[in-house]
Amino acid sequence: MEFYEAVKKRRTVREFQDRPVPEEALRRALAAGLRAPCNAHLKSWQFILLRDLEKRDKAVFDGLKARDMKDPGEIERFVARFEEPELKKVYRRSLPRQLSMMLEAPELLLVCYRMKPQDECRTLFELNPLASAWMCIENIMLALAAEGLYGCTYTPYAARGLKEFLGVPAGFEIAAVIPIGYPKEDPGENEPEDLDARLHLDGWEQKTGRKE
Ligand SMILES: Cc1cc2nc3c(=O)[nH]c(=O)nc-3n(C[C@H](O)[C@H](O)[C@H](O)COP(=O)(O)O)c2cc1C
Repeated sequence: MEFYEAVKKRRTVREFQDRPVPEEALRRALAAGLRAPCNAHLKSWQFILLRDLEKRDKAVFDGLKARDMKDPGEIERFVARFEEPELKKVYRRSLPRQLSMMLEAPELLLVCYRMKPQDECRTLFELNPLASAWMCIENIMLALAAEGLYGCTYTPYAARGLKEFLGVPAGFEIAAVIPIGYPKEDPGENEPEDLDARLHLDGWEQKTGRKE
């Protein structure tokens, strides 16, 4: 698939077909992840595929403590904190699927990276290992889109239980837990944003960007 096609096709998907993910497609996507740039050059990234379903259940229930928020009242109380209708819409759609997407997906991928303890980080610069892990993740998501595969980058709020359960060594963090599969429904393309509203010329004040 042509690069810009894959960029348009990449969408967050939380409901999957039963159809297995071809091993080679998954390996191509992970290999694309490993081609991403990284601060300080050394790519500390490690991938875990949770294929043993019993282990996966325990990891996401007990380790991650992920859950589906199904109660409409609870969902509305949650989204009430947001002003933007678009954001409320995203949460109304996603909250009921946070656990089930991980249990039902044909593959569940964890992306780990090495990072010094969060409470020792004093500058944004020191978060570069996390930024780099997300460059790896985006390469993976784009490569998956090129393969007709989709997923959701779930970010653990607290991953200590999951790390312990899976034996992730000290010094490593989990950037994202990513259910992967073929989408249950056609997700369409992601919406283009208004570039000119965001492109500034020679400073913040002048918002045109486009050469006349
Ligand atoms: C850093 C990051 C964290 C995210 N965390 C979650 C998450 O925990 N749960 C979830 O369902 N979606 C999560 N998402 C997916 C976003 O909700 C989704 O990307 C956004 O709504 C835009 O939709 P699109 O990916 O289809 O363009 C995350 C995305 C990013 C980039």
